Amino acid sequence: MPDRYAVIGNPVTHSKSPWIHAQFALATGESMVYERLEAPADGFRQAVEAFRAQGGRGLNVTLPFKAEAFRFCAGASERAAAAQAVNTLVLDRGKPWGDNTDGVGLVRDLAANLGRRLGGAQLLLLGAGGAAQGVLAPLVAAGARRLVVANRTADKAHALARRYGASAGGGYEDLRGEQFDILINATSAGLAGEAPPLAAVQFARGALAYDMVYGRDTAFLALARAAGAAAHDGSGMLVEQAAESFFVWRGVRPDTAPVLAALRGG
Ligand code: ATR
Repeated sequence: MPDRYAVIGNPVTHSKSPWIHAQFALATGESMVYERLEAPADGFRQAVEAFRAQGGRGLNVTLPFKAEAFRFCAGASERAAAAQAVNTLVLDRGKPWGDNTDGVGLVRDLAANLGRRLGGAQLLLLGAGGAAQGVLAPLVAAGARRLVVANRTADKAHALARRYGASAGGGYEDLRGEQFDILINATSAGLAGEAPPLAAVQFARGALAYDMVYGRDTAFLALARAAGAAAHDGSGMLVEQAAESFFVWRGVRPDTAPVLAALRGG
């Protein structure tokens, strides 16, 4: 019997994780299956317990359950504790243990796949919700020269920046005259066809704009391209965070390049 894994969320119908992990399993020869598990909004804990009782070994956790998954775990990694959120559950080593591979997935995509030096760069993180909080600690650790958090609700950005030791945090109007090398959109504005209001921002020469949403040419990416920046969606982050989860579960690091190429191609 192959080992069982799944992605749990609501909704999960369009999740690419089962396909990505199937590619990893094939390439590494790991004997595993990876399913989709849709839990009702108030049924996360029950769904995880049931999956575990059936021999499930691990879960990826997606919206809206990442914070609840952190509270569910008896123990967690430092990076999950920093994010206050879990996207990777380990269920086959005693009590449920949680990890968070989102931040490392983003940093690896920027550094390894897109060839950007984060050390010394001027970074702007847009948004102050769960997605932003999930990646802020690894971004701070990457050693940017300046890392600013901006959000529609300025207070939330200010609080987040202070808590994680970013350079500054505030509203979009506070960005007047600032210039950035790397701009990362962690807002959900794109889902409504909108972009964060960046009129005041200067894209540095050769700037890179990154949207953590994948598979969508968002208004933010269009705005960035119009300003002369290179624009990338979150496909690379998706594949890199999956590879890190795979490593946490199986102790084997899959090659991400062919999977990312296939995901982009199809
Ligand atoms: P997630 O877990 O995806 O981060 P969230 O916690 O609901 O979801 O946060 C959504 C983020 O997108 C917030 O930073 C939100 O700004 P506010 O804190 O001011 O609400 C931001 N956001 C959503 N729609 C937006 C829009 N149209 N323009 C700018 N920011 C937007």
